[in-house]
Amino acid sequence: VVNSLYGPIIRSYLESHGLFRPELWVPFDVKKSAKGVNAVLELLELVERARLSRRAPMLLIGGGTLLDIGGLAASLYRRGVPFVRIPTTLVGMIDAGIGIKNGVNFGGHKNRLGTFSPPLAVFNDTDFLKTLTTRDLRQGLSEIAKMGIVSEARLFDLLESHGAMLLAEHFPEGEISELALDLSVSSMLDCLAPNLYEDATLQRVVDFGHTLSPWLEMKSNGRMPHGDAVAVDMALFTVVARRLQRTSEETQRRVVGLLLKLGLPVWNDACRDVTEMCAALEDVASHRGGALHAPIPVSVGRGEFLEWTNERGEVDVELRASIMAALAGASEELAELQRSHDRLISRFLRGPAEVTLELL
Ligand SMILES: NC(=O)c1ccc[n+]([C@@H]2O[C@H](COP(=O)([O-])OP(=O)(O)OC[C@H]3O[C@@H](n4cnc5c(N)ncnc54)[C@H](O)[C@@H]3O)[C@@H](O)[C@H]2O)c1
Ligand SMILES: [Zn+2]
Repeated sequence: VVNSLYGPIIRSYLESHGLFRPELWVPFDVKKSAKGVNAVLELLELVERARLSRRAPMLLIGGGTLLDIGGLAASLYRRGVPFVRIPTTLVGMIDAGIGIKNGVNFGGHKNRLGTFSPPLAVFNDTDFLKTLTTRDLRQGLSEIAKMGIVSEARLFDLLESHGAMLLAEHFPEGEISELALDLSVSSMLDCLAPNLYEDATLQRVVDFGHTLSPWLEMKSNGRMPHGDAVAVDMALFTVVARRLQRTSEETQRRVVGLLLKLGLPVWNDACRDVTEMCAALEDVASHRGGALHAPIPVSVGRGEFLEWTNERGEVDVELRASIMAALAGASEELAELQRSHDRLISRFLRGPAEVTLELL
């Protein structure tokens, strides 16, 4: 897709600078569903045929899927060649492009094989966003909202005022788009930098929205887009936080209101089965050595963690039961809100932004 849309213009840019070498131009077709080892090997075959030298950096131009496959290929080829990321999706610019991780799916698990290897540089060019579908753009906005909610209040305020416009107009040139991207990238970097190799702590605010979202995505057999699942998770844990008196009604109103305004879901049918949802939460904790480490917003722009273990690291059964009860209550509350929201939208056939205002 990216090659057909942007290949000619990038080629002519390189040609005009005397940098184009046809044998080093390697178009590579990526499919989200096939982000596996085979894709890495196929890309490496092409790289080998192109006789890429040891020091020449690979320029990876594409969405998060290509960046993940290409980053892994670069970190394996000749024990690692330098690479530069040029993301063409919003997710790529504010999430997959940042940080030092790359990886592919393996054994039925997302990103199970990968390496930590930093790119030489990352270049973000918002011109690429003009051709992105609104659906894909919204997935990126969900991750931007995440950073606003748990880490950067200015970003949250910006999205509250301009998020719907950024979505509708695909990040038009100007101060607002620039500020939204700058704040997203800088807040993400600030969160990742002290724990780059993820060995310092398992408590990461950037995991907000990523506690039950893998379960939601799995339940939908891959039909539910990642950002939608993250949005439902963010809404659930915000309401859980309010029910446990860790955050205010006002914070809940603003967080849930922002998600709806961006056209993101705050509830999904899968959450109807509260027993299964609670079992999924237990499962998440068991993968973290019994600890929950679920990020929650305690106010707009500030995240903390929901835990159910005591100082000795043992599970506090009562605390766990109260969290499960709060989760069940949150699901009911959000189901009702989502239903009223959908009813209003279908009644007035208007955009999400206008309708949310009336509802909240
Ligand atoms: N390494 C990390 O830290 C990290 C972080 C977040 C996400 N990811 C990974 O990123 C992947 C998702 O990336 P994504 O959301 O960018 O999706 P994607 O790369 O799959 O791209 C989505 C679709 O948009 C098309 N596309 C790309 N750029 C376009 C453009 N400018 N105009 C029109 N269409 C364009 C692609 O061909 C594709 O069909 C997942 O595999 C996820 O695991 C990795
Ligand atoms: Zn994510």
